[in-house]
Amino acid sequence: MSATAKSMDSSIDPRDRAAHPREKHAPDDLPVDESIRRRWSPRAFADKPLNEDDLRTLLEAARWAPSSYNEQPWRFIVARREDESEFATMLECLNEQNRKWAEDAPVLMLTVAHTAFERDGRENRHAYHDLGLAMGNLVHQAMSMDVYVHQMAGIDPERAREIYDIPADCDVVAGVALGYLGDPDQLEDPGRREAETSPRSRRPLEELVFEGTWGHSADFVAAGEASS
Ligand SMILES: Cc1cc2nc3c(=O)[nH]c(=O)nc-3n(C[C@H](O)[C@H](O)[C@H](O)COP(=O)(O)O)c2cc1C
Repeated sequence: MSATAKSMDSSIDPRDRAAHPREKHAPDDLPVDESIRRRWSPRAFADKPLNEDDLRTLLEAARWAPSSYNEQPWRFIVARREDESEFATMLECLNEQNRKWAEDAPVLMLTVAHTAFERDGRENRHAYHDLGLAMGNLVHQAMSMDVYVHQMAGIDPERAREIYDIPADCDVVAGVALGYLGDPDQLEDPGRREAETSPRSRRPLEELVFEGTWGHSADFVAAGEASS
């Protein structure tokens, strides 16, 4: 069994997933975990609720992320579409562009980083890093449950601070939409519709992984490229 197959969620046959018309796999040159390979950020969300148990599971995955001094500086504010007034309030924290598509997601969240250590109030320089790890866990868990996540920088952090009474030593970092894949045609903007099916792209590893000195691509990375 390949490393990819071994690491997969066993509930869905990998071949069925590959056949889903909305899959946007990363290339499978290296055996990265299937949840990483399949993940992407949709804007078209289906009109299907995300049940409470699944939502709790996603947040539980986030909770078990590692963090500097085990500080766990991540906090999440959640709004579910069932609760119309809470959901409308959360939408106010998104910018207009994001609001247009994110309002179709069954769950919206704001991620918040506590930027000071609880024990002595010193600045926690790694709070954003650790919040990112928690979100990484959540996204990975979500994909294993066929839940898709779209994170958003396009928010109004100060509005969110005001609405939710967020303390000064906490930063509102990002918005998050969670749910199931919808139909690209439900998106008004043609560019956004196209993005739902266009291939995903990334910088090559050589541009990201250095050895010896800044900017010098690691030899083992280049060797892998040559043999692929
Ligand atoms: C922290 C963060 C902020 C983002 N902000 C936005 C945003 O405001 N609006 C949006 O449409 N997409 C946003 N994205 C989605 C990225 O554009 C997307 O992840 C990137 O293009 C890579 O595509 P993929 O996730 O489908 O692989 C954001 C992603 C992250 C991680």
